[in-house]
Formats: sequence, structure tokens, C-alpha cells
Amino acid sequence: MSDQKNPSTQQSAKPEKTAMVYEPTEYVRQGSWIDSMETYRDLYQQSVDNPEKFWAEQAERFLYWKEPWDKVLDWDFNDPHISWFAGGKTNVSYNCIDRHLKDGRRNKAALIWESDERRSKVYTYQALYTRVCRLANVLKSYGVGKGDVVAIYLPMVPELAFAMLACARIGAIHAIVFSGFSAQALRDRIQASGAKVLITADNGMRGGRLNPIKAQADEALLECPSIQKVIVVSRTQQQVDMEPGRDVYYHEEVARKDISRHCDIEWTEANDPLFILYTSGSTGKPKGIVHSTAGYLLQASMSSKYVFDLHDDDVYFCTADIGWVTGHSYIVYGPLAQGATSVMFEGVPTYPDAGRLWDIVERHGVNQFYTAPTAIRSLMRSGNEFPAAYDLSSLRVLGSVGEPINPAAWEWFYHEIGHDRCSVVDTWWQTETGAHMITNLPAATPMKPSSATLPFFGVQPIVMESEHKEAATGEDGRLCIKFPWPSMVRHLWDDPGNTRFKETYFSAFPGLYFSGDAAMVDEDGYYWLKGRVDDVINVSGHRIGTAEIEAALNSSPGVAESAVVGFPHEIKGEGIYAYIVMKHGAEADEDLEHRLAGVVRRNIGPIAKPDVVHVVNELPKTRSGKIMRRILRKIAAGITDKEQFGDLSTLVDEDVVDEIIETRPTK
Ligand code: WTA
Repeated sequence: MSDQKNPSTQQSAKPEKTAMVYEPTEYVRQGSWIDSMETYRDLYQQSVDNPEKFWAEQAERFLYWKEPWDKVLDWDFNDPHISWFAGGKTNVSYNCIDRHLKDGRRNKAALIWESDERRSKVYTYQALYTRVCRLANVLKSYGVGKGDVVAIYLPMVPELAFAMLACARIGAIHAIVFSGFSAQALRDRIQASGAKVLITADNGMRGGRLNPIKAQADEALLECPSIQKVIVVSRTQQQVDMEPGRDVYYHEEVARKDISRHCDIEWTEANDPLFILYTSGSTGKPKGIVHSTAGYLLQASMSSKYVFDLHDDDVYFCTADIGWVTGHSYIVYGPLAQGATSVMFEGVPTYPDAGRLWDIVERHGVNQFYTAPTAIRSLMRSGNEFPAAYDLSSLRVLGSVGEPINPAAWEWFYHEIGHDRCSVVDTWWQTETGAHMITNLPAATPMKPSSATLPFFGVQPIVMESEHKEAATGEDGRLCIKFPWPSMVRHLWDDPGNTRFKETYFSAFPGLYFSGDAAMVDEDGYYWLKGRVDDVINVSGHRIGTAEIEAALNSSPGVAESAVVGFPHEIKGEGIYAYIVMKHGAEADEDLEHRLAGVVRRNIGPIAKPDVVHVVNELPKTRSGKIMRRILRKIAAGITDKEQFGDLSTLVDEDVVDEIIETRPTK
């Protein structure tokens, strides 16, 4: 390892930035798939010089095709339309399971499930096949077929992975709703997706605590007429209400006499939707991101292999929840398409203590460990004695995702967990991108802590200073992508005329996909991500729209108006800061914070609960009536010097700002 000084990082405005460059160690490079920068650069060049040829070759190598495609790529970013491998027929379930039964992996562990209570269960590829086929047949017996939507509201139980693959097998589209979302959030997503069936559980178990999932689902279902059947996984074997005719138990259904353990594949067209995943945007309603079959799986699979340097004997562990895109692509689809062994963890990193993840690494011999900066920071705070108590020598690649990883967390991860010999891959991507976009390759790319480094194969990023002008080296700008990639979002669910799709991603920078992130490219071509520039906040790696939180707060009696912004938070990355204006005559009593937390929990879920509630007389508004959020963000971040607020001349009343500064809570 050579530690060179790097001038570009020294000049950066970020106070915490380190000047170190870490080379991949010999330990990581040995036997790796891509072991040098020359190989990376050579392949990358091919991928951008002739993308269609490159991706056609990869599609041949990485996927099984029942029928070949007619056209590799068809696209337009102005009148947005993206199609990869049109006419090709394949199936995701076949690629993730069936082909491994014939390639020597039949008895290999596909999933290792680690329960909250520290029990583990191993499912081989053969076992996975049987479970998935049985469930697929159950779904078929209810009339679920190609193009139908199945909503899934499950905790991290193995049945969640079975359910995804069962849908894929019969061409149904799954729409997973994170089990930490509230009944109302679930209701909204079911209604928006038009799902026919819901797969849920009696309860969830996390950190020794019960989450009453079925009760939440029941509340949501009061207003979801599209749902005809509810399949209930019995996780805790507790009595829950079951509605006769509608609700059935998972274990009883898959054991039905008429349910075969084989289920024929429904061959799907490359661009047929595989799943919908709702994610937050700038405006109120969550967006239903629609991912395709072949392009999605291709890039999820290929990035799993190269970014984690995944080999056949490896044990791979991603700590994400499958309710988010990271779990879709990097617990289930990518690793299983690779025929890998993927660890799925039900619990939380701090239960029974902060050594839990390291305990899993030791017991299962984990080689690749993928997590989020927020988890790293919280474990770092718990002390080095936890990781030091476990044998972490199996680790080779450490991964980070969800938000920019601050240098201190990066260094801790590298030294205390990786023992100075593992590579840390910092993977930038989004629900919309489906798979990794900007990331280092563990055995090739020199690492600069806190930089996501360089684009993945076929990815053509560009940082824009303004609508038509590219940002100069070292200057902050907006991160866009110039050219389509296979795992790209295809459209938004229920978006007639592609209106919202175009408006959200293709209008700010004509001809480009706009990510919503700020970024800077340094003189080595390394990308430094700077967070969201839209009204989306990233709390513990979870994407939440401020508009959604405001809508919840405004529904609370007594609240006239609210404005929510993010602020720097030591553990969560960003915290939620809510400015509240009370209705005339309504009182901001001691219980207000509690009531507001309750309303947010009910409308969205506990993750969206404000960290700070600040009651103000008025919000700073421009003459045209717009809330000046930039000022609110500064004050939330603790900046109270008005000199730093920029131009205030468009404000209706500058005194409002003084009042807000004076009443800022100091806790
Ligand atoms: C942020 C999660 C910096 C970014 C996969 C993006 C990151 C949003 C990184 C997407 C990273 C994700 N460095 N920022 N390595 N990874 N982000 O849709 O702001 O939940 O736009 O997808 O997370 O969040 P999403």
C-alpha cells in the first residue's frame, strides 16, 4: 500500500477530508477478476466506445436467453424511452435458480438466513427452487399471472426472497413495501400499484421487539379493494386476525395437495417489468420506479461479480433491508444470478450488542460485507472492543452505500474492520439506476476515502454547472448521466404519457438523466458526491421526501404550515428538522413534539420522525410566496450569521429570519 499525497483532496472545502490514497493490497488483488487499472480502463473504454457491442457481449455471458433479442438498444432522453434487448426472452427466476441446478451448484447454499435470535437456516439452490416453485403455484392458483402486481409487506424473513423469485417466475410484478412503513404508507402504495395479492407476516422480529405487521396490513387493507388474497407468513406463530376467504397462511398454502413442487417458467420479454419500488421524490407522492427483466438483472449480476469481486467459494453479506433497492439488487437478484451464497439478516446491528454483525461475519466466514455509513458510524461509536473480539480475517471486500461516507467512518471501516488489507468499495447508485453506477473495483482502483471514485462499465456520468454547461474540474455541479445503462428505470408506474418521468429526470438538463445529486470531479477523474440538491433528505441512508413529511405534519390539528429540511447529523448523516407554524389560537404545548412524532409515524413510519421541532411565527417567504428553504437549511445546520445567507432581498419580511434565529432550539 502506498500513501501518496493528493493535492486535489487537500484543496477541498470539506474540513474532514483526508489526503490519503490507498492502493488495493496484494491480498485483495490475488485471484481477483479485475486486478489492474489497465484492465478496468481498457474495458471501460470499450464499454463507452461501442456500448451496444459491449452490452450484447455481457448479456450473452451473464444471462441465459430462451430467445435472442432483435435489437440491443433503443433510446431517447428527450421524449424518454429506453429499451434494451428488445424481443429477447428470458426469466429472472430461471437465471437466479434453475440454471444453478445444472451448473454444479445444486447443493450450494444460496441463502443463509440469520434470525434476530441468532438462529440460522441454510437454503441450498435446490431448496430455493422447491420453495419458489411451490409459492409460484400458489399464486397461480389465485389467478395471478403475467403482468399482475403482487404487493409484499414482509420483514426480513426468507419467504421475502422466495416471494420475489416466485413472482418473477410467473411474470408477475412485485411491489415490496418496507416493513417499517406505516399502514397508511402501505395503503398508498397498494392503491397506487393496483396489487391483487398481498404477502405479509403475522409479526416482524427486530432487536428482540415484535412489529405487528399483520395488524398494520389489516388497517391498510380497509381501503384497498384491489387486494383479493392475503398470504400470511407465520413468523412468530402468534394469533392474529384472519379474514375468512381473504387471508390464508403461507405454510398451509404451500403444503396444499394440489400444489406441485415444480412450476414452469413464464418466459418474459427483456423489457417486461420485474418490479415496482416506490421511492421518494421532491413532490408529495412517492414514485413507482419500474425495473425491467433483462437489463436490470444483467447489471445487478455483473456489478455483484466485479464490484464485490465475488467468487464461487465466497460468502457475501449485505446488511440492507430488502424493502429498499439495495436489498433487491444486492441481497437477492445480483448475488443469486451469480450463483453466490448470500447472507440475509433479520435483526439489527446492535442486538444483542454492537458485536452482532462481526459475530455474523465470524460464524459464517463472510468475505464481502456491504453496509451503510450510518451503521458504520453507529458501530464506530460503540467502541473498537466489539470488532476486536471477533475473527474478521475472512473479509476481503467492504462496501458502503446510501450516502457519502465521511472520511472518519471510511478510515475506521478500513482499519478496524478491514485490518488495512481489505478494499472499501464506495458504491454510488440509486433506486432509479437499479445497480452500481460510480464505484471503485476492489482490486484495481486506488481508493480515496469519501470518493465513490470512477464510473462502472458502460456508465457515462457528467457533472453540469448549468443547463447546458459542464462543470469544470474541481467545481461542484449536478450529477447527470449521458447515456442509458441496462438497469435503468424504464418508466414510472401509473404515469400516463410519461409526464412525471420526463419532468423528474429529463427536464432539468435536456438530453441528460438528472440524478438529483451534487457532485464534483477531481483531476484524476474521481467523483465526489455531495448529497441531494432536491427536497429529498437522506436519513440513515433512507430516502425521504420533505414534502411527504410536511403533508403529515400539516394534517396534525393545530398546525397551519410546516417546512422540513435536513441538517447534518453525526450518526444518521442527515437529521430531520421541522419548522412549524401553529394555527391562530392553537397552542404549542409541551406535548406538541410527541403529537407530531405520532402523526408522522402513522402517515409514513418511524424513520421519518423529526429530530428537531422548531415552532416559529412565520416562515421566510419570497414575494411570490415560496418558502426560502436555503435559509431554513442554514439555520437548521446551526449557521446563524445572516452574512452567510446570500441574497435576502426577495424576502417579504426579513424580521422573520431574525425571529427564527432567536428562537432556534439549542439542544
Ligand atoms: C445517495 C440507494 C454518496 C445519493 C442505493 C442518491 C450516495 C441516493 C451513495 C439514492 C454513495 C447512495 N455516495 N451518496 N455511495 N449511495 N447515495 O434511491 O444521494 O435509496 O441519490 O438508493 O442515495 O438513494 P436510494
